[in-house]
Amino acid sequence: MSHAEDHEGTRRDFLYYATAGAGAVATGAAVWPLVNQMNPSADVRALSSIRVDISGIEPGTQLTVKWLGKPVFIRRRTQTEIDDARAVSLDDLTIDQGSQNANKPGSDAADENRAMDEAGEWLVMMGVCTHLGCVPLGDGAGEFGGWFCPCHGSHYDTSGRIRKGPAPENLHVPIARFEGTELVLG
Ligand code: FES
Repeated sequence: MSHAEDHEGTRRDFLYYATAGAGAVATGAAVWPLVNQMNPSADVRALSSIRVDISGIEPGTQLTVKWLGKPVFIRRRTQTEIDDARAVSLDDLTIDQGSQNANKPGSDAADENRAMDEAGEWLVMMGVCTHLGCVPLGDGAGEFGGWFCPCHGSHYDTSGRIRKGPAPENLHVPIARFEGTELVLG
């Protein structure tokens, strides 16, 4: 290959990449004014929202989805699980009495403050143990019939509240809302 051919090949490659780059820049320019008008938290919220179709989740089962790189448990509880959770007095919650619900900051750990709906059928929580971040096992695991983290033995009840073991806080409830048959996280 002569020097001239070699140079031409390089130049073609360069033009190809430059065109792709121009496309990317144009998109960025169109998006930027909109993003720029939003306040930072709205911006972050919009970019970090996901929608989950929950219409196929049966009572007594849990769907785990990945959101912001972490597992989120979406559990449709049975009436027994709800009743068990609501029979617990705050005095029994010796480790953490905060709801840890981002939708209800400052509220206490009553199950009504942790479930998504008034009837308590839907419980949505980060699937991240508050001790050192393992993913707890569900489906009635542990001594309190909720979730169990095998890493160091943390037991959570049917409301995801820490009842025994080294974890210092109840499982966190993320910002979430229903829209029809979808759950919007973030
Ligand atoms: S990470 Fe769950 S008990 Fe330690």
